[in-house]
Amino acid sequence: MRIDIISAVPQLLESPFSHSILKRAQDKGLLHIQVHNLRDYTPYSHKQIDDYPYGGGAGMVLMPEPLARAIESLKAQRAYDEIIFLTPDGEPFTQAVANRLSLKQTLMLICGHYKGIDERIREHFVTMELSIGDYVISGGELAAAVVTDAVARLIPGVLNDETSALSDSFQDQLLSPPVYTRPADFRGWKVPEILLSGDHEKIARWRYEKALERTRQRRPQLLSHSEDPEKTT
Ligand code: ADE
Repeated sequence: MRIDIISAVPQLLESPFSHSILKRAQDKGLLHIQVHNLRDYTPYSHKQIDDYPYGGGAGMVLMPEPLARAIESLKAQRAYDEIIFLTPDGEPFTQAVANRLSLKQTLMLICGHYKGIDERIREHFVTMELSIGDYVISGGELAAAVVTDAVARLIPGVLNDETSALSDSFQDQLLSPPVYTRPADFRGWKVPEILLSGDHEKIARWRYEKALERTRQRRPQLLSHSEDPEKTT
């Protein structure tokens, strides 16, 4: 998969993709991430990329020309499966959306800043708008990093143990069950006996029940969005 990210503050994205799983994915050739500085595409003096909003009001708006040039320059090099704008008024980014995007070959992510981007770019270039949650962060960069991480780890071959993505929270509309590691007795706090039993069927059943219990307690609305999970076992 190739992910191109257009940003007015590319420095914010220097580190998140250079470690751990995303670094390994790039080293293996399964993922290529390229960050592009919006200021490299502006025709205006002083590398200007933003201006005051028509009609007045607080905050600056990213101008259409630099964004259009950046997008068109990338589109001239390859076709994009989705051109995604990160924005708090976008579609909520969920595990289901991450699953769908992980099957794509080429994604372009556009990070907003200030008060937003000129609406005409959204109308004429953007194919998908995503929000990472009902709060506002200073720009789209951290949101782009979240989307990139969540999508990239689902690309086949990226995780060493492929089943570990299958047991993630939300993958079946269920939160993950509790996990434990050594020692079996830590300050008198014991690991549940069943996990030490070696009975894999019983352990799987216990994990499923704990996941269900945790989801019912913490996020019951997740269960109402899926089929009755009791019936799926
Ligand atoms: N930019 C600012 N806030 C955002 C959010 N919640 N999701 C995506 N992009 C954003």
